[in-house]
Amino acid sequence: MSVKRTPFDLPGFLSTRTDAVNRALDKFLPSEKTRPATIHKAMRYSIFAGGKRMRPALCLAAAQACQGSEKDALPLACAVECIHTYSLIHDDLPAMDNDDFRRGKPTNHKVFGEGVAVLAGDALLTQAFEIAARCKKSPRYPHEKIIRELAGAAGSLQLIAGQVADLEAEGKEISEADLKFIHERKTSALLCCSVRLGGMSANCTPAELTGLTHFGYHVGLAFQVIDDILDVTQTSEQLGKTAGKDAAVQKATYPAIVGLEKSRRIAERLTGKAFAALKTFQGRAVALEALAEFLLKRDR
Ligand code: IPE
Ligand code: IPE
Ligand code: MG
Ligand code: MG
Ligand code: MG
Repeated sequence: MSVKRTPFDLPGFLSTRTDAVNRALDKFLPSEKTRPATIHKAMRYSIFAGGKRMRPALCLAAAQACQGSEKDALPLACAVECIHTYSLIHDDLPAMDNDDFRRGKPTNHKVFGEGVAVLAGDALLTQAFEIAARCKKSPRYPHEKIIRELAGAAGSLQLIAGQVADLEAEGKEISEADLKFIHERKTSALLCCSVRLGGMSANCTPAELTGLTHFGYHVGLAFQVIDDILDVTQTSEQLGKTAGKDAAVQKATYPAIVGLEKSRRIAERLTGKAFAALKTFQGRAVALEALAEFLLKRDR
């Protein structure tokens, strides 16, 4: 994809924001010594295992685009990362995708056992709401709206709906439309919520929120198409998780349904739509633009 965008130091943005998010998460989560130590060790094990922190980065970049303070968005950036990490711990369980590696390390249940892994996921999901409730309220978006936003994205109409449909599609031939239904929910919903929350923390206007919603939706869809592509094209070492798993267990994915080449074109088209949604920011959404391009070209 070749789009003209303002030069932006994305590596610098990602490393400073990742550090800020990691410091804040360290402060928000109970210490490893807090009784019972096992659960807090398990929560911290997965949170600090080395994820890319894309959802927090999107949240902070959205706050920046709306001329808000990133400091005010930080609790929300941490909350979405807690929900994301919980979803990965559960996604990896033997009852779901049955994966042994995640973020370059053995999965949570491999280290702590299935019982504690279930509970570590539950605890991170709950912790997300505790952290989100600490955010500074903005005039247009009281805490009620923030909490409903997070609950909506994580609940049985969105992320959980997608995960259920994903499990039910295993081993079956499904249509491209049904696959889109899955991707919208299991992945795009939380990415979209991440950018919307960043905007809300900055008291964004309704027009800005609409722009962020379209951006997040399309970037979120592209994100899962790329995830499906990388599962085919990359090695386990590169990904930090077992590659080739989707085909092995007959997961419904874009490469399986439309092939690799068409999948790439779909991801490009979705990223183009995400860019177009940023028009309302008149060049102020440089970090979001850079992130969208980075997510399309990522190799892990
Ligand atoms: C993996 O997400 C799960 C999907 C929704 C595709 P990421 O690729 O963001 O995983 P981490 O956070 O970097 O480990
Ligand atoms: C995961 O999708 C989506 C969620 C965890 C909600 P995948 O199952 O494709 O993610 P990976 O490939 O295991 O990271
Ligand atoms: Mg899965
Ligand atoms: Mg999986
Ligand atoms: Mg995958």
